[in-house]
Amino acid sequence: MCGIVGYIGPREAYPIIIEGLKRLEYRGYDSAGIALFDGTDLKVCKTKGKVVDLENKLHTDITSTGNIGIGHTRWATHGVPNDVNSHPHYSNSGDLVIIHNGIIENYESLRKELISRGYHFDSDTDTEVLVNLIEDVKNKENVKLGQAVQIALNQVVGAYAIAVFDKTRPKEIVIARLGSPLAIGVGKDEFFIASDASPFLEYTKDAIYLEDEEMAIIRLNKDIKVRKIKDDSSVVPYVQTLKMNLDQIEKGGFEHFMLKEIYEQPKAIIDTYRGRLNRQEAIIKMGSVEDNMKKFLNADRIIIVACGTSWHAGLVAEYIFEDLARIPVEVEYASEFRYRNPIITEKDVVIAISQSGETADTLAAIKLAKSKGAFVFGVCNVVGSSIARETDAGAYTHAGPEIGVASTKAFTTQITVLSLIALRLARAKGTISSSDFRHHLLELEMIPKKVEKVLEANEHIKHIAEIYKDVHNFLYLGRGYNFPVALEGALKLKEISYIHAEGYPAAEMKHGPIALIDENMPIVVIATKKGHYEKVVSNIQEIKSRKGKIIGIVTEGDVDVRELADHVIEVPETLESLSPLLTTIPLQLLSYHIAVLLGKNVDQPRNLAKSVTVE
Ligand code: AGP
Ligand code: GLU
Repeated sequence: MCGIVGYIGPREAYPIIIEGLKRLEYRGYDSAGIALFDGTDLKVCKTKGKVVDLENKLHTDITSTGNIGIGHTRWATHGVPNDVNSHPHYSNSGDLVIIHNGIIENYESLRKELISRGYHFDSDTDTEVLVNLIEDVKNKENVKLGQAVQIALNQVVGAYAIAVFDKTRPKEIVIARLGSPLAIGVGKDEFFIASDASPFLEYTKDAIYLEDEEMAIIRLNKDIKVRKIKDDSSVVPYVQTLKMNLDQIEKGGFEHFMLKEIYEQPKAIIDTYRGRLNRQEAIIKMGSVEDNMKKFLNADRIIIVACGTSWHAGLVAEYIFEDLARIPVEVEYASEFRYRNPIITEKDVVIAISQSGETADTLAAIKLAKSKGAFVFGVCNVVGSSIARETDAGAYTHAGPEIGVASTKAFTTQITVLSLIALRLARAKGTISSSDFRHHLLELEMIPKKVEKVLEANEHIKHIAEIYKDVHNFLYLGRGYNFPVALEGALKLKEISYIHAEGYPAAEMKHGPIALIDENMPIVVIATKKGHYEKVVSNIQEIKSRKGKIIGIVTEGDVDVRELADHVIEVPETLESLSPLLTTIPLQLLSYHIAVLLGKNVDQPRNLAKSVTVE
């Protein structure tokens, strides 16, 4: 996956593209590049590294800029991150340049074919094959760029969002998408192209989101032409007005986006239940759930598909749905589900959870479920994202843009939405009493204040991080609702500090992981009062006997664990089903501080990208 930016209009393209790339760096950041047309000449500059490295290089390589250009920040799939493999890629004649997000699966056979016809390749990328295929079509068929792109894409298997520029037709950019996102910002006499709207928010709020299998020809001072790639039929583009603000995607005084996003959780949770939870009237109102109530109530089971942190939110949801609404739930890694010929029927409800709404595996799982007749409901954060559009219905988490690669507020808002749905269904099914229901609403409404309370432990957590930052292994244990939180805590630590960490159900420890425990092993144990407390205390005793270092996440006022543990971090008391919304906060902060103390790039950890739009 990668970030794509383009500009065509009266302004200098360079600053718009560079700033835009910086905002899209969450999508990939192993190399960056730009192509600018200055009216006579096409200049390309690209480099391994970040957008700032590109900026530094540009100052020496390109002296004049222009009003049209395209830029790319890469997350390599084909070929190591180096200067040559960076985008944009030239065609052999030097007339065409392309930027690409995705994978051309049949690139090897296309490459061989093109080599046999005299083409040569400088890079290892699939992208360079595509740009030469377009050139080949253009020459063979004697057609303009738009048609050449269209014919070439019909020979391609895979996923792409592309922008192509032809210096022999320097007043247009051709873009196309299949499987990777692409938005067009529509200004006055100017157009912006980007993987999401963030690069053009300060210039225009009017945006067109290309659908899969659509392409657009964007010409200076002309209307945009959108058409289907397959059959050439034209499409009337839908221009929507975005509600997002620029300050929502900036750091707001925090050192890192991740920290900002951790601190935003009280507000994000309120934003997520606002207008849905009405405690006074003791109701939950969610249009998409009401509209599809029959489907939910008649479902044989709910299958949840997701990846990474969203999968962990799905695991929490399994406990909530089964416990409160008594609906059987299966939680699947989207990447496994899609390839194992699962048994799905029309009586299944599939819930797909995704922050970005662009995760390729989750998207493919949705398509599979839909093809078997299941009703698919999405829980996404990014409005208008591919998953939000592909699902039959859905509910957004209103977390606001999440930029840090390590997901934080997306997790807690996903759990909030899923709790609301489970509670609504429980009420409809009569599996929860009216007083319990009211109690849940009250507790959910109090969660943001309680999250704020947990955030007050920041300095204390930082101190614990200082003690353990140099260890090589961590274990995270939890039971019941807090078992997925243990998995999530371990994932957070792994992805940003590169310390090996494992999450386990506390009781499962004795079946293997206990062998790892010695005086060097820190073990984070979630031991809140309601979650099988006594059993977890026994597990802590077992760790203590083997000299492990214990960091207990406990309920305020806890005495027993405090006596046994080396450190405790308190969280306010709440219902067991809502406890993940609190217990996960200290684990986010612990991983954050360890990573910062180790000097790691918290917001852009190595090898990762924010939205994984490749398999
Ligand atoms: C979370 O910290 C990870 N970076 C990652 O596991 C992420 O949750 C996963 O890739 C799924 O993303 P999505 O929610 O955007 O679909
Ligand atoms: N497949 C292309 C490459 O490896 C694009 C990857 C991306 O989406 O960044 O360069």
